[in-house]
Amino acid sequence: MSLKKIVPTKTKAWKLLESHFSEIKSAEIKDLIRTNNPDNYKINWEDFTVDISKNRLDDKALSLLFELASECGVEEAISKQFNAEIINETENRAVLHTAIRTDGNEKILLGNNDLVPSIIQTRKKIQEFTDDVISKKIKGSTNKAFTDIVNIGIGGSDLGPVMVVEALKHYSSRLKTHFVSNVDGDHVLEILKDLNPETTLFIVVSKTFTTQETISNASTIKNWLVSSLGQKSVIKHFAAVSTNQKEIQKFGIDPDFVFPMNDWVGGRFSLWSSVGLSISLAVGYLNFEKLLMGANKMDLHFKTSSLEKNIPIVLSLVSIWYNNFFKCETEAVIPYTQYLHRLPAYLQQAIMESNGKSVDRSGNKISYQTGNIIWGDTGTNSQHAFFQLIHQGTKLIPCDFIGFNKPLYKDNTQHDKLMSNFFAQTEALMMGKTKIEVENELTSSGISKENLTFLTPFKVFEGNKPTNTILINRLTPENLGSLIAMYEHKIFVQGIIWNIFSYDQWGVELGKQLASKVLKEIEGNSVSKHDSSTNYLLNKYLSNS
Ligand code: F6P
Repeated sequence: MSLKKIVPTKTKAWKLLESHFSEIKSAEIKDLIRTNNPDNYKINWEDFTVDISKNRLDDKALSLLFELASECGVEEAISKQFNAEIINETENRAVLHTAIRTDGNEKILLGNNDLVPSIIQTRKKIQEFTDDVISKKIKGSTNKAFTDIVNIGIGGSDLGPVMVVEALKHYSSRLKTHFVSNVDGDHVLEILKDLNPETTLFIVVSKTFTTQETISNASTIKNWLVSSLGQKSVIKHFAAVSTNQKEIQKFGIDPDFVFPMNDWVGGRFSLWSSVGLSISLAVGYLNFEKLLMGANKMDLHFKTSSLEKNIPIVLSLVSIWYNNFFKCETEAVIPYTQYLHRLPAYLQQAIMESNGKSVDRSGNKISYQTGNIIWGDTGTNSQHAFFQLIHQGTKLIPCDFIGFNKPLYKDNTQHDKLMSNFFAQTEALMMGKTKIEVENELTSSGISKENLTFLTPFKVFEGNKPTNTILINRLTPENLGSLIAMYEHKIFVQGIIWNIFSYDQWGVELGKQLASKVLKEIEGNSVSKHDSSTNYLLNKYLSNS
C-alpha cells in the first residue's frame, strides 16, 4: 500500500499551528523556558540526552506539532517503511536500509523472501575479508601486505564511509584509509602520489558501476597500477561493491572480492551495507558491527516510542516549526568534537538530496517550504568563523549542538574547556546580552561616557536564538550508529509530513545525463547547441585547454 497523500497545510493541526504561531512568534525563549513543562522538552535514551528546551516553542505548539504528525500519518508511514512496503514509489522500491543493520533476531520479509539470511551472509563476507586483509593473509600481487586502502566512490558511496572513518579514527586498525571521489584528476593524482602500488588495495564502490566520476577514477588508478605492477596485479589490488556484475567482470575484479548491494538501499543510506567495507577495514569488523547495532537500537526506539518521547520525531517537528512557520531557510549542525568534522557534509547529502523536492506525492507543485539547507562545522572552530552571524546577524538559524560527556583520550582538562564552550554558547544564544548588561560592563571597564554611548548598540545581543542540545556519553561506534540513524529517521518523518518522496533523487540523475552530453561535445570539439552564455564559455574552454 502506498503512502498517504495528505497536504500538510490543509490539516486541522496546521491551521491551529498558524494561529498559535502568530500569538507566540515574538515570545522569548528565556521566558518560555520558565513556564513550559520541562518534562516535555527532554528525552533520556540509552547514552543520549536530548534537550529541546532552548526553542521558541511552548507546550501548546509542541502538542499541536504532535497532532500534525498524527494527522499526516507519521506512525502509519513508519510501519510501512519497516514492513518493506513500496514507499519509494517513483522508483518502485521498498526502503530497507534499516534491514541491513538487523540484529539477526527477526524475519524481514520482502514479498515472501526473508532478507535476513543474505544480510548475515554478506556481513560474514565483510568480516572475513576485513580480518584477512588486517591479518595480512590477503596480500598484494608482489606478496606484500596491504598498508593502505583507497575507497573510490561518490555521493552515498563516499560521504557516509568517509564521515564514519573520520569519526572513528580513535578506533583505527593498522590500515590507512583514503577516499577518492571527485572526477577532478588532480584529486586522484594528489592521493596516489604518496601511495605505494605494491601495498595499496582499491575498493570501487558504485551501485551502478556506471557513475562517470567513479569509473573514470577507477580507470585512472588501474592504469597507474598496471604501469608499475603490470596487468596481472589488477585482480589482487581491486575489490568492488556493486550490483553490476557484468561491468565488474569487464574491469577485471576477482569475484571473491566483489560485495553485493541491493536496490532497496538508497546510496545516501548505504554506509551500513557493503558500502561500509572501507569502514570495516579502517576500524576492524567488530567496530563496524557495533556501529550497525547502535543504529539498530535507534531503529527500535523510533519504531516503538511514543511521539512525545521519540527523538527523531521530536527533532523533525522542531525543524518543521522553524522551516514552515518562522520561515527559516537553513539549519546548522555543530558537533563539539573534531572527529565529527565531516558530519555536516554527510548530512547535506542525506537531508538535501532526500527532501529537496518541490512536487508532492500526488505529483502537484508544492506551495510550502520543504528541505532545509544544512551547514555547519565543529565547535569551537565555528565559534571563530560563522558564529558572529548566528549571534548578531539578521537571520534566524536553529542549531543542533552535539557534544560528548567524555573525551576519547583521558584529557579532561581540555575536554572541560571544550564542553564549557558547548554549554556557554547555547545559553548565550538564548539569553543574549541586554543594553543594561552591556552598559554596566562598559562602565566597570572605565570607558568614557561618549565611548559607552557609541559602543553599546554593537555589543548588544538580542538572544532568542534556538538550539537543540544532543549530549551523548562518549563517541563510541554504537553511539555514532545511533546518531546517524537518528538523523536518517528525522529526514523520513519530515518527508512524510511535507507529503514528498524522500527516497528518490531525480534532480541528481539529470546532472549525470547533462554532463555526459557536454563531454561528448568537448571531445568532438564542436559546441553550438546551447544558449549563448554556455556556447561562449564552452568555446572559451576549448580554445584554452
Ligand atoms: O549523487 C547521486 C547518487 O545517485 C547517490 O545517491 C549515489 O550514492 C551516488 O549518486 C553514486 O552512485 P553509484 O553508487 O551508482 O556510483
